[in-house]
Amino acid sequence: MNLAALRSEFPLLGRDENGKRLCYVDSAATAQKPQAVLDAVRRYYVEDNANVYRGVYALAARATQDYEDARAQVAALVHAEPEEIIFTRGTTESLNLLARSYGELVLGPGTNVVTSPAEHHSNLLPWQQVALARGAELRFVELDEDGQVTPEAVGKVVDQGTRVVALAHVSNVLGTVTDIAAIAAVAHAAGAVLAVDGAQSVPHMAVDVKALDIDFLAFSGHKMCGPTGIGALYGRAELLRRMPPVYYGGEMIEEVTLTGATFKEAPWRFEGGTPNIAGAVGMGAAARFLQEVGLGEIHSREAELANMAAEGLRRIEGVTVYGPRGRRESGVVTFNIDGVHAHDVATALDADGVCVRAGHHCCQPLMRRLGAASTARASFYLYNDADDVQQLLDAVASAKEFFRRVAG
Ligand SMILES: Cc1ncc(COP(=O)(O)O)c(C=O)c1O
Repeated sequence: MNLAALRSEFPLLGRDENGKRLCYVDSAATAQKPQAVLDAVRRYYVEDNANVYRGVYALAARATQDYEDARAQVAALVHAEPEEIIFTRGTTESLNLLARSYGELVLGPGTNVVTSPAEHHSNLLPWQQVALARGAELRFVELDEDGQVTPEAVGKVVDQGTRVVALAHVSNVLGTVTDIAAIAAVAHAAGAVLAVDGAQSVPHMAVDVKALDIDFLAFSGHKMCGPTGIGALYGRAELLRRMPPVYYGGEMIEEVTLTGATFKEAPWRFEGGTPNIAGAVGMGAAARFLQEVGLGEIHSREAELANMAAEGLRRIEGVTVYGPRGRRESGVVTFNIDGVHAHDVATALDADGVCVRAGHHCCQPLMRRLGAASTARASFYLYNDADDVQQLLDAVASAKEFFRRVAG
């Protein structure tokens, strides 16, 4: 990968921030967009814009084709069939749709959902609320010392009442990578399905739903270099076929009478109303872009940068680094300057052109376990380089000195 050429594909990265070289290390929050994605969205609006499925004229047929081509591109990214991809607004909506549709189908008294205390609220609250509504139990896997969810720990809590095991592939706080294939085997042996929050894995590593034996996979367009407001839920075809719709309205029906209705097949019966067509086109272009760059290379390089950053941060006295003590397998590094609120750290880094996320990262139960009200998080992606790591480390070191002087 020629990094300079790759970086030049992202127009925003060439800008300065606060008079400094922009060091964008907040891609776990949202990724920057390459020209190929910007061009695809623009081309759709300039050449093919019309509503999908409704029109009988050529322009509408092109819009429908663009939308379905995008579904096929997104499906190819995770090795699914196009009919197994439901377009949603993002991971959050995918998981809500899943919990409401599949959860309501299979959950009731005497059943349980297994998840972990390290989940993003988007993979906790939908299950928590559907379990409450259906009188089912929500069970939690014990994390190991690194905050890792292991197949052994999952095996200790699943039983014949387990209907769903819902886990993140990559933690957005700790950067731990879950052994999804092994956990799929544990879930399936108990007769449960495995629902994976892929928000932090699909953009960053090769994810093959068939090889990993995943039943459901949720991910967001904006975290994989695509537009905001678009995402996907993969569902195994035979499971989607059984699931009821959640959003009722236009274009998801076969026939409607005043007293009843029949619905289209999956995935279309889950996409009521005019979908985010331009967003889907952009997400399809992003899927193609990532595959062209190569997800294996993206994954190994961002993990290398994260390891460099974690080692460098650990060498700065008074900095605490969270997550795996050994080698990191993802691009996420969460840290604190001891005694300084993470929001103050992030504000100080901003003055040096460094963009990091600070706060509870939508993982309040995990933050309580870490004993930290908030943390700062640097997250690397395909366009980051060793200069970004150095700029981050220099900025953290000078922020630490600044706060020491202020406190002293
Ligand atoms: C692990 C994880 N799950 C879910 C989400 C929610 O994604 P979105 O806001 O795109 O719906 C995020 C976003 O940060 C995440 O990191």
